[in-house]
Amino acid sequence: MDETRGILRRTADHAADFLETLDDRPVFPSVTVEELREKLGGPLPVEPTDPAVVIDQLVAAAEPGVVAIPSGRYFGFVIGGAVPASLAADWLTSAWDQNAGLYVGGPSASVIEEVAGAWLKDLLGIPQGASFAFVTGCQMANFTALAVARRVRVLCGAKVHATVTRALRLLGLGTPEIVAADDQGRMVADALREALRDAAGPTIVCAQAGEVNTGAFDPLPDIAETARAAGAWLHVDGAFGLWAAASPSLAHLVAGAELADSWATDAHKWLNVPYDCGLVFCAHREAHRAAIGVQAEYLIRGDEDTVRDQVDWTPEFSRRARGFTVYAALLSLGRRGVQEIVEQTCAHARRFADELAELPGFELLNEVVLNQVLFRFESDERTDEVLRRVQESGEAWLSGTVWDGRRAIRISVSNWQTSDDDVERTVAAFKDAVYAGQAPAR
Ligand SMILES: Cc1ncc(COP(=O)(O)O)c(C=O)c1O
Repeated sequence: MDETRGILRRTADHAADFLETLDDRPVFPSVTVEELREKLGGPLPVEPTDPAVVIDQLVAAAEPGVVAIPSGRYFGFVIGGAVPASLAADWLTSAWDQNAGLYVGGPSASVIEEVAGAWLKDLLGIPQGASFAFVTGCQMANFTALAVARRVRVLCGAKVHATVTRALRLLGLGTPEIVAADDQGRMVADALREALRDAAGPTIVCAQAGEVNTGAFDPLPDIAETARAAGAWLHVDGAFGLWAAASPSLAHLVAGAELADSWATDAHKWLNVPYDCGLVFCAHREAHRAAIGVQAEYLIRGDEDTVRDQVDWTPEFSRRARGFTVYAALLSLGRRGVQEIVEQTCAHARRFADELAELPGFELLNEVVLNQVLFRFESDERTDEVLRRVQESGEAWLSGTVWDGRRAIRISVSNWQTSDDDVERTVAAFKDAVYAGQAPAR
């Protein structure tokens, strides 16, 4: 056991060294893929390697290609960091190595999901009677919810997330009918009403809370009323947007979401637990269980009235005990801590929009209602050039996109660590990128 303790201690030091040096590392590494293949590749050795040597070599060879995603200056896609308690709980999850499919695979893993599931419903404004499951991410949350909903006709807004259409494809439900969206990516409620006028069999309406580029919310109360009048199943993809419910000042954005039939969201985005963890909720427990549950003679089942066998709710069979990290994050943050992460990241997003607006050629493309800022410069070429310069500076990392046919840059502030100083350093990197090659007008 001494050897195991030694290697875990050593690993903890490697991990702490990484986290403690985030401020000084380039956010995106400058290594080439050839260099990484050279360091990490080669033939499979015939003989074993000492575990401590494996870890030291892994750190030496892999770290040059590790993106500083936990840094407060990583703004790509929609990616959170990991609050310390949940990172530590993630290590314990691996050490405990429970198979969290069945209660007998780990009673605490089962109960912790029950507890965290109830806390999450409370925090996100989802009815307490809803069933739920911890899955790998919002992709699988959308997949699970739509497998439960399974209807012949599916309607989605024009800015539906790719994981919803992929889930429909994987389920054999085909390509959805597209309902018009406005310039922020919000589904147009009148267009939905019009589309639902001619009832054509059991229908799913997929609404969105938080468009991935703009952060915009579909008009949920109106959509919920229309869907209900048409007898349609309403699914809400709220990968990050559902977390607006945790803030009294932002909760109005998700009003109406509580009327849905199913919800998909993530813990690895705004709750800041380590990858991976998504969450699905369903207002119809029996339908959820009937669509997703599994039976086999050799499975030792708990009494369904007293214990939770997670295989009844998740599309996975053997699975990681994902509840530990979520439980630890929620306990360490408390309701107030979650609210603070949501509000502080949104405040940083607004500050980005205000300060970048001073730069020549800057055009803001979205209403900054949440934690997303979408913008461009004079032309597609100029936009890409500024983005590339900021990425190459190593000061921050953001991703590009196309919005209504034009190149754009997205800032997503989702990390609990992002500070005022990180915002200032990133704005300075943009200034340098914009004025590169010119006499600085500052
Ligand atoms: C609205 C929306 N839905 C679904 C997803 C997919 O989430 P995941 O990557 O956790 O599967 C995202 C990711 O950004 C998203 O923004």
